[in-house]
Parts: sequence; C-alpha cells; structure tokens
Amino acid sequence: MRVLLLGSTGRVGARLLPALLAHGHTVVVYMRNADRLPKEYLRRGTTVVEGCATNTAAIKSAILRNECGAVVNTAGRASILGTNRNFADIFTAVTSAAVEVQQERRSPLRCWLLSGWPILDNPKTGLPLLTYLRTHSTHRINYDRIRHISTSQAAWSLFCASNMLPRTASINIAPKPGIAMHSLESVADQPPQWTDSLFHLPLIGPHLNVAAQIQSYFSPLEDCMDFIAEDLKEGLNSQWIGQRVGVKAKEEWDVGPWSWMNSLSDGTTWGGAVWKGVGNER
Ligand SMILES: NC(=O)c1ccc[n+]([C@@H]2O[C@H](COP(=O)([O-])OP(=O)(O)OC[C@H]3O[C@@H](n4cnc5c(N)ncnc54)[C@H](OP(=O)(O)O)[C@@H]3O)[C@@H](O)[C@H]2O)c1
Repeated sequence: MRVLLLGSTGRVGARLLPALLAHGHTVVVYMRNADRLPKEYLRRGTTVVEGCATNTAAIKSAILRNECGAVVNTAGRASILGTNRNFADIFTAVTSAAVEVQQERRSPLRCWLLSGWPILDNPKTGLPLLTYLRTHSTHRINYDRIRHISTSQAAWSLFCASNMLPRTASINIAPKPGIAMHSLESVADQPPQWTDSLFHLPLIGPHLNVAAQIQSYFSPLEDCMDFIAEDLKEGLNSQWIGQRVGVKAKEEWDVGPWSWMNSLSDGTTWGGAVWKGVGNER
C-alpha cells in the first residue's frame, strides 16, 4: 500500500518508516524539512513532501497526488500535563484531510493515528483511564474529535500504547517483520492484562489501581511499529477500524527501575536514536 507518514523525524515515526518498508509498503514522508531524511530512504524509493502537519489542504494534496491508500500520523506529541495545542491542531488537520479525501474518492482512507493509554476504558468501570489519572489530556481532545467521524468517512484506528521504549539505541533500516505477532498483546478499547490490584481500597483505590499499573505498562517500540505496518496490509478489512487499540508486551520486560525516564530524555539525532551504520548516512 502507498502510505503517507507524518512525523518521521520523531521517536515513533523514525521507527515506523523502516517497518513500513520491511512490510512492502511504499512510503511518502510528509515533513517540515526534507534535508533531515537519511539519504538511504531516498535510495529505497521513499518520496518526500515538505509541509506543516497543521495544513489540511497540503496533507490532502499529498495524499491525492501520491495516490496514497493510507495515512499514519505520528506527528505531534501529547504533553504529560496540560494540552499541546500543536498536536491537537495536527490531529484535526490530518483527520479533516482524510474526510476530504473520502469525499473526493467516494471511498474511505485507511488511517492509523498515534494516541495514548489514557483514552482506553478501565475494564472494571468502563470509564476512561484518564478519569483516574489526569495526564496527556490532548489524547482525550483528539479522541473526542475522531469518535464523531464515522468509519465510512475515514477508516481510522487509534494506537494507544503507554510507554514505548526502543529495544535498540540505533535504528535498524531493515527490521525483521513479524515481531509484533509474537510479542504484543492487543485489545480493542481496553488495556490488555489489566488487573484489579488496589481497586478495592476506599476512595483512592481506583486511582491507585491506574497509577500503580501504568508505570509498568511498557511496549517495545519496534514491535508496536511492526504491528501497525503489518495491519496496514489488511487495508479496509482491518479488524481494528473504528477502535482504540490497547497494546502491551506479552512477557514481562525488564526495562530497569528508571528506564521510563529514557522516554523523557532527548539528544535527538534521528528519532531520538543514534543514527549509524554502513549506508545509513544522513
Ligand atoms: N514515545 C512514546 O513512548 C509514546 C507513547 C505513547 C504515545 N505516544 C504518541 O506517539 C506520537 C509520537 O510521539 P513521539 O514520541 O514520536 O514524538 P516526538 O519524538 O516528539 O516526534 C514528534 C514528531 O512530530 C513532528 N511535528 C511536530 N509538529 C509538526 C508540524 N507542525 N508539522 C510537521 N511535523 C511536526 C516532529 O517533526 P520535526 O522533527 O520537524 O519537529 C516529529 O517528527 C504522539 O502522539 C505521542 O503522544 C508516544
């Protein structure tokens, strides 16, 4: 499938790009500065469109001109506290472009949109996890927008991982496809492997239940990207259309006591990773 990818310079998008190629997709990257794309990707047939991710008309044009059958948004990022307006504007622009593409083509565009765990429902109460731990509120704003868009207008799925940590510091330009199948558990609209621990404590129990578990909610970043790339092959037959998709590593993953801090640190060269290796020059 031809896929328009937004956010390919980011932590998530930089790992999604090689995963898409490994699964046989043709990728059009939409980015603010085309010079930032490692040259290796151009040699592998990746097309670049320069533009801002808040520009609906430019995104729509990139999809139509390049005959993309899908869009994946990894651009923007939800702040832990407060609202990130840029991310909400990006989400609105991408979803508006998708709906406008449908109006032109008379067929919905497949859309994977990066979201987060707070909009998943607590399996015990049915209320969003955000009710108990008020973080990453931009994901809620984005979900409130997308749930009013029918899947006949845009064939959307929201990817709702908690903390995605890379398995390797450097980005593998030719990852092995199929890793997600073995390592990730995925559930529609709820977090997988959720337990009722601490829930029964009076008053603060439901809040502690979320706070205690979310700290151990890790997924390997490469495996998450493999999941999306694999699912895109299903096109409009994907089982995840119209759903929030919760994921978690099947096995306990020893990431060390403070490894979640890694996701907050920066030092970005490309996607928060060390960019190295033969033929990987930028
Ligand atoms: N990382 C995690 O563990 C994690 C966990 C759960 C959910 N998520 C979600 O995954 C998504 C991606 O996160 P991330 O960690 O990859 O974020 P990130 O490293 O901060 O990357 C953000 C990307 O967005 C691009 N961008 C921002 N504003 C833009 C604009 N106006 N026009 C074009 N591009 C723009 C940036 O491009 P430039 O290089 O041009 O700035 C960059 O490529 C977010 O929705 C985040 O909330 C991440």
